[in-house]
Amino acid sequence: MESSRLCFSFCLVAAFRLSLSLEQILEAPLSLFDDATPQNYSLPAEIVDVVCKANCDKDNSTAKVPIHQVLINKLCEQARRAGVVDKGDSDGCQPPVPDVMKLLTDCSKIFTYLNGVTGIPSGPWRIKPDDMETSVKVSRSQTHMTTDHGGWTVIQNRFDGSLNFYRRLWDYRDGFGDIEGEHWLGLKVLHKLTGGDTNYELRIEMQDWDGNTAWAKYDTFKIAGEREKYRLTVSGYQGNASDALVHSSKCKFSTRQEDNDLSGARNCAEEQGGGWWYCFCERSGSNLNGPYFKPAHYRKETHTGLGVYWKGWKTHSRHPLIKATRMMIRPSGFLDQITK
Ligand SMILES: *[C@@H]1O[C@H](CO)[C@@H](O)[C@H](O)[C@H]1NC(C)=O
Ligand SMILES: *[C@@H]1O[C@H](CO)[C@@H](O)[C@H](O)[C@H]1NC(C)=O
Ligand SMILES: *[C@@H]1O[C@H](CO)[C@@H](O)[C@H](O)[C@H]1NC(C)=O
Repeated sequence: MESSRLCFSFCLVAAFRLSLSLEQILEAPLSLFDDATPQNYSLPAEIVDVVCKANCDKDNSTAKVPIHQVLINKLCEQARRAGVVDKGDSDGCQPPVPDVMKLLTDCSKIFTYLNGVTGIPSGPWRIKPDDMETSVKVSRSQTHMTTDHGGWTVIQNRFDGSLNFYRRLWDYRDGFGDIEGEHWLGLKVLHKLTGGDTNYELRIEMQDWDGNTAWAKYDTFKIAGEREKYRLTVSGYQGNASDALVHSSKCKFSTRQEDNDLSGARNCAEEQGGGWWYCFCERSGSNLNGPYFKPAHYRKETHTGLGVYWKGWKTHSRHPLIKATRMMIRPSGFLDQITK
């Protein structure tokens, strides 16, 4: 316990001595230093408390701790290897945990800082978008960290229809579902991440009931704030699914009881059974939050409505459409940053 507390102090002192920011230390690859076996530094109880409070979350499971633990291990290890750890300088330092948390604005940061770190515990990541009081859990899997060079934060995931997407605005605003299962991350977080100066890109991956896949990527993805009803801006399509989301660009988000579409008295969200960025109901190019139909629904004709669709790849019809969808985002500069 005592030694780990000293470690925190040392790390801060080390950062100070090296005149490097926490960010710079964490970004430095471990190979900059010698390749001695990394040590494990344990979190003292009071630090765990700081983490929990910083996370401000009713869910105080231990899953939120490992991410900090790993980063702090790395920080301590870098400092130790650089030979700047000095037992005489341990007084008056603050645990750097909240500072570490501040750096984790999205999964691309986690990816960058943990590059080359092994032995990372399983469980969801936590991120804390700038200006947000609390952190949010985000899904984590090898795929998101490797597809198209990784660094993606998953914002929507469906694959078995276990989660109802016909919901009110507050659910879409705050997010719903289990982060390790089907889920929607939440418009509030999306706005916090993409509404500022950092440009984000969006990637959408889909699979049909025969195992065919398609993808769409947009260079720009921006979600406006609550006053603008979480208006979507997308542009710069690439992919092989077709540019269906362009029909939703500049449209506001509508849900079953919050009709922000441009179709007069019609309510597209109610007609199509899911919250989405609709302008004109019949000209909507996509709805990945629509009702989830399985092939049996079509065989028995018990499906009503359009289901989950993406025009140009799986246009709504009488045939089973999309089985799985995943939407994910990352800062546009990410690739330049990791390949430079
Ligand atoms: C650090 O912890 C990991 C996971 O618990 C363990 O596998 C590894 O052996 C530990 N390393 C050291 C140097 O104690
Ligand atoms: C949070 O932690 C406390 C103390 O360990 C425990 O009693 C409580 O049940 C936990 N709450 C949740 C929601 O897990
Ligand atoms: C789209 O590209 C992926 C590979 O990137 C491929 O697996 C898939 O079959 C393609 N889909 C279509 C509809 O061309």
